[in-house]
Amino acid sequence: MRTAPNNKVWDAAGYDASFGFVTAYGAPVLDLLAAQPGEKILDIGCGTGHQAAWIATSGAHVIGTDSDAAMLEVARREHPEVTFVLADAQDRVALRAAASDAVCDAVLSNAAMHWMPRQDDVIAGVAAVLRPGGRLVVEMGGVGNVEAISAAIRGARGDIGLDADVASSWTFPTPGEQAARLERHGFTVRLVQLVDRMTPLAPGDSGADWARMFGAVLVDDVPDDRRAEFDTGVDVHARAAGLDVRPDGEPGWWIDYVRLRFVAARI
Ligand code: BEZ
Repeated sequence: MRTAPNNKVWDAAGYDASFGFVTAYGAPVLDLLAAQPGEKILDIGCGTGHQAAWIATSGAHVIGTDSDAAMLEVARREHPEVTFVLADAQDRVALRAAASDAVCDAVLSNAAMHWMPRQDDVIAGVAAVLRPGGRLVVEMGGVGNVEAISAAIRGARGDIGLDADVASSWTFPTPGEQAARLERHGFTVRLVQLVDRMTPLAPGDSGADWARMFGAVLVDDVPDDRRAEFDTGVDVHARAAGLDVRPDGEPGWWIDYVRLRFVAARI
């Protein structure tokens, strides 16, 4: 089994145009955060910054961090009122520097932590920037996330003679694993839940489009001259798994997301 490096370079414009659902689905985690005026809040893996900007309208001082320069370029252009800092949340020193060494009241992350293989480093870094009693509020992929679409991509890999067992570098923990990790790093877990979330794709998009945007670790080694064949294969396998028929009866494709939500307080 080959583990592909997580070397994704984001197409920030395409991400917002077709995959705005990443921020559009942020409501549950924003409700759990319940940002208050004057609070200092770090949004880790902030992407194009829409969520950070929304939180800032509560009167909180928000700092968005992301390890992707292209995403931050869009964020800074569209939300000049918010501070954005290039930082890998797995790097404790970078996270502290992003927070200007001052303690935060809350740290938020939505749809980003599953891109960070070193979960312990992230949680330890967050513990180091939160004040005692400060909260960590997260939604990320949980166990079983994107299983059907990943199987479709692997099937299409096999069809063109690539290793179908290739491992992704995504991390989709179980609720128990994540709760234990939080406790190890000095948090009290207030809430942890695993939620199935059928996620519709934009009209006209199919499984192959999702794979191109998000599946880099599983598709990067597909040769250019096999690309069209591979895309067709992804959609054939995804159709066989029912991803072209939305469970809610609406037209269009969907992806089998499973969200892990948790809220934890720094002891
Ligand atoms: C997610 O938000 O769960 C996700 C997005 C892209 C790739 C893998 C997971």
